[in-house]
Amino acid sequence: MSTNSIDSLLHESRRFPPTAEFSAGAIAKPEIYDEAKADRVGFWADQARDLLHWHKPFTETLDWSGAPVARWFGDGELNVAYNCLDRHVESGNGDRVAIHWEGEPGDTRSLTYAELTAEVKRAANVLAGLGIGKGDRVAIYMPVIPEAVVAMLAVARLGAVHSVVFGGFSSESLRSRIDDASAKLVITADGGWRKGKVFPLKAAVDGALAAEGSTVEHVLVVRRGENEVEWSEGRDLWWHDEMAKVAAEHVAEGFEAENPLFILYTSGTTGKPKGILHTSGGYLTQVAFTHKNVFDLHPERDVYWCTADVGWITGHSYVVYGPLANGATQVMYEGTPDTPHPGRWWELIEKYKVSIFYTAPTAIRSFMKLGREIPDGFDLSSIRVLGSVGEPINPEAWIWYRDVIGAGTAPIVDTWWQTETGGIMISALPGITTLKPGSAQVPMPGIKIDILGEDGTRVDPPQGGLLVVSEPWPSMLRGIWGDPERFRETYWSRFSAGDTWKYFAGDGAHVDSDGDIVLLGRVDDVMNVSGHRLSTQEIESALVSHPMVAEAAVVGAADEATGQAVVAFVILRSDQEGAQTVDEASTILRAHVAQQIGAIARPRQVFIVAELPKTRSGKIMRRLLQDVAEGRELGDTTTLTDTSVMQIITDKLN
Ligand code: WT7
Repeated sequence: MSTNSIDSLLHESRRFPPTAEFSAGAIAKPEIYDEAKADRVGFWADQARDLLHWHKPFTETLDWSGAPVARWFGDGELNVAYNCLDRHVESGNGDRVAIHWEGEPGDTRSLTYAELTAEVKRAANVLAGLGIGKGDRVAIYMPVIPEAVVAMLAVARLGAVHSVVFGGFSSESLRSRIDDASAKLVITADGGWRKGKVFPLKAAVDGALAAEGSTVEHVLVVRRGENEVEWSEGRDLWWHDEMAKVAAEHVAEGFEAENPLFILYTSGTTGKPKGILHTSGGYLTQVAFTHKNVFDLHPERDVYWCTADVGWITGHSYVVYGPLANGATQVMYEGTPDTPHPGRWWELIEKYKVSIFYTAPTAIRSFMKLGREIPDGFDLSSIRVLGSVGEPINPEAWIWYRDVIGAGTAPIVDTWWQTETGGIMISALPGITTLKPGSAQVPMPGIKIDILGEDGTRVDPPQGGLLVVSEPWPSMLRGIWGDPERFRETYWSRFSAGDTWKYFAGDGAHVDSDGDIVLLGRVDDVMNVSGHRLSTQEIESALVSHPMVAEAAVVGAADEATGQAVVAFVILRSDQEGAQTVDEASTILRAHVAQQIGAIARPRQVFIVAELPKTRSGKIMRRLLQDVAEGRELGDTTTLTDTSVMQIITDKLN
């Protein structure tokens, strides 16, 4: 972020206190902060007891003796799926709609808690019949359809571990995730709908399993796209056939609170994505608590909609586990916001009377660009809480969101968290916090955040520094799948000392003079494109895997629509020079990255250059390339081996 925009964020003077009416009816009361402060660990124990059903109550809340791996509610037992399903039916809410699902072509399905519970029981029987049990890994590669939720909960019900891979990822990406976790089963669909077309998923699974030696025994296929699929007899099974064969009843067994619930891969600073591991009791406690309090959820009357795909952590925590644990009614939509018309989202809000809406700044900015006439054409008066997630929300977008979507009155909660944190860590609480555009504001009750300088001492406002979490929290990651060393190194080596453990998040932050936290973006080689995390190195590896490429450097450049955009600088191999025009080469390489990783990683631009700026020790100076990509004057070039390189690059591009 540029110094200018940081200054304007720190001097943001607009304030939006909650209305007396909202505060009076709000779930969270101001005392919650003092309660949590007085006994942080006890506070979480209370939440775990109040919000969840325990097959066996816990007596021990936090065991941090194995730091940095925490055990929360360690001697307790629960079933995550039972908490999201059966108990709502047993308490008389079986007829409440759990999911109003809308397919992109306009087909719809509503499932009550009783119906969703029945489907998950059958699916659990199907999975058990395929040999899936406690601890087994199941890969899920699906569109946003109810079966994706059913599949996740069925895996959870058996105490097995899901690894959901976003449906937009390539066959290659899917393969590496299946292999890393040694998945036994893949659950997929023939295809899903996106931008008016069916995108094939089964074909990508076939590609991922083509190599010898895969650990996958079966592929369960949901019929959705009705597209042609190839079939591997014995391995492939239709979901609907198997569901019809099994018993309807399934009794949920309790599993220990630290039983792994899922692995979710996310990009880090080095090439290979990390399998972030989350467990059961602590995770479910924090996502249920935050979902209820941050969004002020009144499950008996609210209609909630989080637009995230289930393939991301936001989909795990705030489409599946948080809302269902709380017995919420929610909207789920399969497709893109502009299909078949640019008002599709607003039409859905009007149709289902959505009262709580949670989306990403990149979406808000793209709607802003289209103009307010589009949302103004729909009745959005049901909205009473708005949420934002994924990247800092700029004050202009914040104000537009509140005015145009929230009728100038809905509180906005800007929620900061990560795949690793599992649940929301920093956010306003509507009804309590006086809102300030552009700032995520305050740590959640029970969460301890500090901003540290490079030397590890606390910085005082308005100094900037690095964001750390200073005390363990219930939904924290328990590790990186198969790589405990990388787990310690990545998150715990920077600021921990002796037996004081501090989690390094990778984000820069400021505390302003009111004590509010302003997030400033990543301080590492991780980019944030449309709220999705991508690693510069991962894309560089994809580029150099192409026979045309000798060397590549990737930077995240500021982009009005997507926050950051991927910009690549590539040196072609000498035997390739002249084989294509520069434009052709750039088109081929953009497509190659999309095919290797997925469309979200496709570079906005690929510049073919003769040299890359390097320091004397051979390190590529991405900072300078970022200056070029953002059209800024170049920063300090004095540490370059050859200071003329940058001149050559900029001359060539201008
Ligand atoms: C990174 C985590 C949390 C689910 C979606 C992304 C950035 C996230 C905010 C926010 C400023 C934010 C951070 C963080 N980020 N939310 N409200 N304000 N930055 O999860 O893919 O794990 O990415 O997203 O840089 O480290 P993720």
